[in-house]
Amino acid sequence: MKGLVLAGGAGTRLRPISHSMPKQLVPVANKPVLVHCLENLADIGVADIGVIVGDRGAEIRAVVGDGSRWGVRVTYIQQDRALGLAHAVLIARDFLGDDDFVMYLGDNILAGGLAHLATAFAERAPAAQVVVTPVPDPTQFGVAVVDGTGRVTRLVEKPRRPEGDLAVIGVYFFTPAVHEAVRAIKPSGRGELEITDALQWLVAEGRHVHAERFGGYWRDTGQIDDVLECNRVLLGRLTGRIDGAVDSDSVLTGVVVVEPGAKIVRSRIEGPVIIGADTLVEDSRVGPHTSLGRGCVLRGAGLDSSIVLNDVSVLGVRGISGSLIGRSAQVSRVAEEPHRHRLVIGDDTKVEVPG
Ligand code: G1P
Repeated sequence: MKGLVLAGGAGTRLRPISHSMPKQLVPVANKPVLVHCLENLADIGVADIGVIVGDRGAEIRAVVGDGSRWGVRVTYIQQDRALGLAHAVLIARDFLGDDDFVMYLGDNILAGGLAHLATAFAERAPAAQVVVTPVPDPTQFGVAVVDGTGRVTRLVEKPRRPEGDLAVIGVYFFTPAVHEAVRAIKPSGRGELEITDALQWLVAEGRHVHAERFGGYWRDTGQIDDVLECNRVLLGRLTGRIDGAVDSDSVLTGVVVVEPGAKIVRSRIEGPVIIGADTLVEDSRVGPHTSLGRGCVLRGAGLDSSIVLNDVSVLGVRGISGSLIGRSAQVSRVAEEPHRHRLVIGDDTKVEVPG
């Protein structure tokens, strides 16, 4: 079985972070979302993976390379325009050949892995398998209508009036039957070839499309709050490890990872927390549910429930919570009147200050 990971999407809802990195590279528990996808595929024995990239392909190649770090072989497939998930299958035809494959949306996090999904697909041998989970607002997703045996009777993309609450999540198992389907469908109202329409085409042809329920934690990391929540959940599954230096005046509680070269000085770290390599935390309080990237400097800082990317400095500012701080950003306190704020911030940035 091959893998097809879609990493071409623009990530407009993740601005401003997606201005500086493709959304698939945003770190969750200090690992890009895309790397979580590759690891999940490697874990079920999928080693030959096509990665669909768009105009941010160079940045993705720089991080993922040939995939050998994760024990997989990556082939890049260029998608010049975002013409839909089924379009990605069309352009990957040569790579996929006549093999079965798992298609994985490169911004979806499925904690706990894909093993039971792969087993269900192998045992039931349908023409295609979608993965579903109940959601409070199905209008935002592809929605599957399923009979008592798990057979899909209907699929609709982002229905205004959904029949049921089963959202199709971003991992699909296909046999080569899908190739005829993606050639048969027409673009949707949003101008895209929808994979949901290709699956519905198979259903209408009388082919067996199975829906397997996902019982674990899943999020489409479309928005900042989803990314922060994923970070909290994945940090909750960490195993502690201290490879850096922690001085005797510091206190660590809960599960904490301190990467090599990191230094914790006179600070309190409340896990789950990851402190990235070569980061200095001094006279600060960090956590819970926080990941700090590489090469950061925190002095007199206090933050929890946040993601801090590489090379950030936070100096003398406490009470930072629920925040995502981009690469090389500087957050500092100045000795001026308390109600005056000096801001140098980029496009599409969201700043919240107490009124
Ligand atoms: C896509 C699919 C949708 C699916 C969702 C899962 O939506 O079209 O059927 O439920 O991914 O994340 P999009 O993210 O393109 O809006």
